[in-house]
Amino acid sequence: MCGIVAYVGGRTAYPILIKGLQRLEYRGYDSAGIALLNGETHVYKCKGKVKDLEMLSKDQDISGTIGMGHTRWATHGEPNDVNAHPHQSMNGKFFVVHNGIIENYSHLRKELKSRGYQFKSETDTEVLANLIENIYLEQKVTAELAVRLALTRVVGAYGLVITCEDEPGQLIAARKGSPLVVGVGDNEYFLASDATPIVEYTDQVIYLNDEEVAVIRQDSLELKNLGNDSKTPDIKKISLSIDHIDKGDYEHFMLKEIHEQPVTIQDTFRGRISMDESKIFLGGILDVMPQLIKARRIIIVACGTSWHAGLVGEYLFEQYARIPVEVEYASEFRYRDPILEKDDLVIAISQSGETADTLAAIRKVRETDATILGICNVAGSSISRETDAGVYTHAGIEIGVASTKAFTSQITVLTMMALLLGSKRQALSASEYKHLIKELIQVPKKIEEILKEEHKIAEIAAVYKDVSNALYMGRGLLFPVALEGALKLKEISYIHAEGYPAAEMKHGPIALIDENMPVLALAANDESYEKMVSNIQEVKARKGKVIAVVTKGDKIIRKMADHIIEIPDCHEAVSPLLAVIPLQILSYHIALMRGCNVDQPRNLAKSVTVE
Ligand code: G6P
Repeated sequence: MCGIVAYVGGRTAYPILIKGLQRLEYRGYDSAGIALLNGETHVYKCKGKVKDLEMLSKDQDISGTIGMGHTRWATHGEPNDVNAHPHQSMNGKFFVVHNGIIENYSHLRKELKSRGYQFKSETDTEVLANLIENIYLEQKVTAELAVRLALTRVVGAYGLVITCEDEPGQLIAARKGSPLVVGVGDNEYFLASDATPIVEYTDQVIYLNDEEVAVIRQDSLELKNLGNDSKTPDIKKISLSIDHIDKGDYEHFMLKEIHEQPVTIQDTFRGRISMDESKIFLGGILDVMPQLIKARRIIIVACGTSWHAGLVGEYLFEQYARIPVEVEYASEFRYRDPILEKDDLVIAISQSGETADTLAAIRKVRETDATILGICNVAGSSISRETDAGVYTHAGIEIGVASTKAFTSQITVLTMMALLLGSKRQALSASEYKHLIKELIQVPKKIEEILKEEHKIAEIAAVYKDVSNALYMGRGLLFPVALEGALKLKEISYIHAEGYPAAEMKHGPIALIDENMPVLALAANDESYEKMVSNIQEVKARKGKVIAVVTKGDKIIRKMADHIIEIPDCHEAVSPLLAVIPLQILSYHIALMRGCNVDQPRNLAKSVTVE
């Protein structure tokens, strides 16, 4: 949610900032702006994408070896040129880019107004810029101290980069709740919301912690907390490579990420399954294994697609490890008064590891005796650092706003965890354990087979691209996949779609069915197959159009459905990993045919770091 990039060093900042913003655009894309410092400060900002910003700035003065940029996902104030960042303080001393929300901004705004401050924009960020300036001018302190004093008055979340006209050559960065990474180069520093704008220049990074402030010049970095205590920077080496953030030969990141899944799933279980394929090792949860084995219940907290993965996890943990599970929206959980005890295990699932609600839910759990695990994709992210233990999904960076490979990697981790705990708790026999591991290992090859049929799925997409509504139905482990399929369609094609447990159709949604309503039926060859056959019949009897995802060789549903998409035969336990692939492809092609921006759907952001 909003992307920040900044640079100080010997190179021209402009291309670094523009390229960085393009990389970060998946975090927000309703407006963009940069400030370049070169004796005086030049600000270029506008509503729209980074390419609009490039058009705006191309014939302007773009010199300067220090600067900052921002790509916005609006929270306070509509997306327009004035509300775009950077924001300047009223007397022109400070420039600020900000990711997050200042919750007490209206109170601060009133206070500043009473001191004569006027505001150009509707943003909370301009309030902060003026608050810093007001402290700086009235108390006659350094810019850094003014920033620290201002931040002690702020309620809310921020990732910030600030410059002060009186102190040239210096960037001040601060973080609370919204991530910021410092890239450490050779006599140069980079700053960004995540490492993607940095990786081509350096692999040495520092993740800022909450309430830390960094004062950065070309040749120095000073880290402290808001109370002025010095902190030693913890420089980490990151393994993200430039190939991971390139579209390669694909038209969209989403398509690339869909096609990467045979590899990413393998990356998720690589090194975690014994050579003889009989055991699973999850190093990240080894230390808490005794608590996991005796867990009384599991509570999974997550948002969006990660929440759907959690629902798959619920089935898996209950079925194979015999542990009762509850799956909660993090945004609801954080405001309840949950009853958590020592033998409860909470699992937070998050691709980014930065989702504000999931992070807040974890912090709530921290106040109790329960054990907290994280399942995150982004190494070093806040959630991965604030949990007792965890398992990384290793899916590689996901750029398409609609999550695909992160979802299947999360399910892969949940499957491994459920099987491992099932074996340790003796809920699974050694032979069942081994058999299920083998099934998991075969998934990547089976996904490759599905991907080869993409053209057939695109043909189905062409038939339904103009519909206004769609229903998705499944049972058991495929019910969460129905939810995820419907979400994918909504997110990128703007078609209204809902997922239901197939048997629930009779309790309402079936009233929607007529000859214009497509119904995606997930009917793999599992325990609920016969029941799905009946549910499909019920749709057909009301003239609905059925697109069925079935196991290869299916004869019965073939005769009833309007379209068939086959997936390879597999064990029920891994069926979500296969069944979701055609749904991702279908949504992709429908969105493409409708002319939608697949990688950057309207109103959405990849990483929701605000409430
Ligand atoms: C946003 C993204 C979704 C994602 C959700 C949770 O809404 O657009 O794709 O599933 O946030 O994000 P997380 O990073 O916590 O998995």
